Amino acid sequence: MDKITLIQPDDWHLHLRDEQALKTTVPAAARGFGRGIVMPNLTPPVTNVNRARDYRERILAQRPGGSDWQPLMVLYLTDNTTPDDIIAAANSGFIYGCKYYPAGATTNSDSGVTNLNNMDAVFETMQEVGMVLQMHGEVTTSDIDIFDREAVFIERHLRSLVAKFPRLKMVMEHITTEQGADFVMSTGDNVAASITPQHLLHNRNDMLVGGIRPHLFCLPILKRDIHQQALISIATSGSHKVFLGTDSAPHAQGDKESACGCAGCFSHHAAIELYAEVFERAGSLDKLEAFASTNGPDFYGLPHNPVTIELKKQAWRLPDSIPFEDTQVIPLGAGTTLNWKLVE
Ligand code: NCD
Ligand code: ZN
Repeated sequence: MDKITLIQPDDWHLHLRDEQALKTTVPAAARGFGRGIVMPNLTPPVTNVNRARDYRERILAQRPGGSDWQPLMVLYLTDNTTPDDIIAAANSGFIYGCKYYPAGATTNSDSGVTNLNNMDAVFETMQEVGMVLQMHGEVTTSDIDIFDREAVFIERHLRSLVAKFPRLKMVMEHITTEQGADFVMSTGDNVAASITPQHLLHNRNDMLVGGIRPHLFCLPILKRDIHQQALISIATSGSHKVFLGTDSAPHAQGDKESACGCAGCFSHHAAIELYAEVFERAGSLDKLEAFASTNGPDFYGLPHNPVTIELKKQAWRLPDSIPFEDTQVIPLGAGTTLNWKLVE
C-alpha cells in the first residue's frame, strides 16, 4: 500500500497562542485538517464569549487564503464561571466546549479551578445544554508524584463526577496512562478521550535516558512504556471512544532549553503523518480514519468533513526547527524521518 485516503481529519485539542505566533500556528494547524479545538489558555485566559469571539477573529485573520479550516472555540473555566456564562457560550454558535484546568496544572493554568466540588451548578448547566467538558485530568496537590497525577485524578474526582453527571459529555484530554485508557473504555458513551502523538510515539525513557530532552517535556508528562502501549492499543483498536488531539503547544526553543523549561510539544508541522507512523507500526492503518476523522465529530455531534486527504508512502525528513515569533520552535520528531507524507 503506498497511498491512503482519509476523510479530512480534525484536531480536537490544540494551542495556537496569540498575536505574532498565529502567523506560524494557524497555517500549520490548517495543514491537512478541517477543524481544530482551540484551547483557551492565553494570558488573560478566554473566559467569556466576547474574548472567544475576538480571539477567533484574530485566528481567522491568519487563515491561509482558500482554506476552509475552522477554529472551534473553547471557554476556560475558572472559580468565577457561572451557569449564565455556559448558556451564553452555548448560544454563541462558535464555542464547542469548556476546558477544566486544575489551578497550577500546566502552562497558563493559574486561573484554573481550585475546587472541582464548587463547579456543580456549572456542570449541571453544561449537561443540560449539551456543552462538552474538556478535562485536564490531573491532581496538582504537592503530596502526589507528578507521574501519578492522572491516575489519582481518576480515583479522587473522575469516578464521582461521571456518576454525578451521567449525561455530561466529557473528553479526558491527552490521556497518558493505562488507568486513563481503562477508565475511558469502561464508561458510557458520554465519556471519550483524546490522545497526542507524543504519548503514542514516546515514553519517559525517550525523554530522560542519556540526557534530558526538553522538547519531549509536556504535561501530562510522558509515562513508562506500559502506559504508552495501553494508549497505542486503544487508539488503534477502532473504538469510537478515542480520537485525535495533538495538544500541539509551541514554546520558543529558549523557553524549553532552560533551567526551568516550559511544557508542550509542537506537532502541527507533521501531525497526521506522526499518527500514521504509530498506526503503521501497529499494523492498523485501516483504523486511522476512525481515530483521526470520524470519532471526534461523532462525539461532538458535528458532521464529518466533506472532503478527503491523501497520504502517500514517501520517506521525508522533518525540519530541525521552524520559525516562530522572532525566534524558533523545535518541532516534535525534529530531524527524524517519517514514512508517510500528506499530499498538499
Ligand atoms: C500546554 C501549553 O503549553 O499550553 N502544554 C502541555 O504541555 N501540554 C498546556 C496543556 O495542554 O497542558
Ligand atoms: Zn493542551
